[in-house]
Amino acid sequence: MIERMRAEIAQAGGWISFARYMELALQAYYGTSDRQFGARGDFVTAPELGSLFGRTLARQIQEIEGPILELGAGTGALAATLLKELEREYLILETSGALRARQAAHLGGKVKFLDALPARFSGVVIANEVVDAIPVHAVGWRATGVVERGVSRDLAWVERPASGELLEQAKAIEVPPPYDSEIGLAARAWMRSLAERLEQGVILVIDYGFPRHEYYHPQRAMGTIMCHTQHRAHADPFANPGGQDITAHVDFSALAEAAREAGLEVLGYATQAQFLVNCGITDVLGEANVENALHYAPIAAEAQKLLSPAEMGELFKALAVGRGVKRPLLGFSRGDRSHTL
Ligand SMILES: C[S@@+](CC[C@H](N)C(=O)[O-])C[C@H]1O[C@@H](n2cnc3c(N)ncnc32)[C@H](O)[C@@H]1O
Repeated sequence: MIERMRAEIAQAGGWISFARYMELALQAYYGTSDRQFGARGDFVTAPELGSLFGRTLARQIQEIEGPILELGAGTGALAATLLKELEREYLILETSGALRARQAAHLGGKVKFLDALPARFSGVVIANEVVDAIPVHAVGWRATGVVERGVSRDLAWVERPASGELLEQAKAIEVPPPYDSEIGLAARAWMRSLAERLEQGVILVIDYGFPRHEYYHPQRAMGTIMCHTQHRAHADPFANPGGQDITAHVDFSALAEAAREAGLEVLGYATQAQFLVNCGITDVLGEANVENALHYAPIAAEAQKLLSPAEMGELFKALAVGRGVKRPLLGFSRGDRSHTL
């Protein structure tokens, strides 16, 4: 993989964008292995903790008609829980061949796999921890102007003047130089193409990130790129290329803007904790057998991880955009922060 990457960089004149580097590295990382998840892998996602997240999410989905389309379904854990809770047609679009095989083995014939987004769709689209894996462009704001931070043949940062759409977007962001961060051009395009295809229904994005004013906060001058390997998080995207997860936090304002441009309405934006509480996570917890401590302890630990501000509760957000849907959605009935986007 590294040799192929070097050859591409050489052919491109010794420099590729960070977005292209991230794309190639993640293709290798997700495409060839399904060992990223769980205690022995690199990271744990909310659906991998247990069924509490999925059972709570099912209460929100219950309100919205139509099939479910899950993007980037990981091991298939969320699909398995939702299919137990809801009788729905379930579609999965997964870019990794290795993970698709794992999902098929886990879910049997209960889901239908898509190779591309459908031209038109009505229903519920779910993307949990998918947008953080969409390649970002790396940008530097310098006293002399805006640079794009790309990657050289020896896999190191090299700057050159930013141009085109990236420069346009970077100029609209006011930060004190020297300042490094990311701009998710591909995430915007991803949302735009999803939104254009949605005839009726909801797109629900859950991930770690911020609204724009927090994303480009003067103190976040080193950007948001984060890599995961064996439950260790670090900021070096060039360590172990193809063998580690590379992510960037999500600019939720950009996603909301792209959805609006395609004619969708922002239906709600809240922290994961607020969203799950609104959906009734405490009722779901209450269904557990409190008498049996051995049974209850792991579920309580799961709730703590999902809700605590020190864990996923505050950093993770839920954003819902959609068309032709009655408001408010259950998950945003209290503490909706759409106005901050
Ligand atoms: C961090 S994992 C999250 C998996 C799962 N949603 C979960 O919460 O456990 C990212 C997933 O998104 C997939 N993926 C990455 N980019 C994608 C894209 N553009 N479209 C669909 N899936 C994508 C990966 O292969 C992987 O399944």
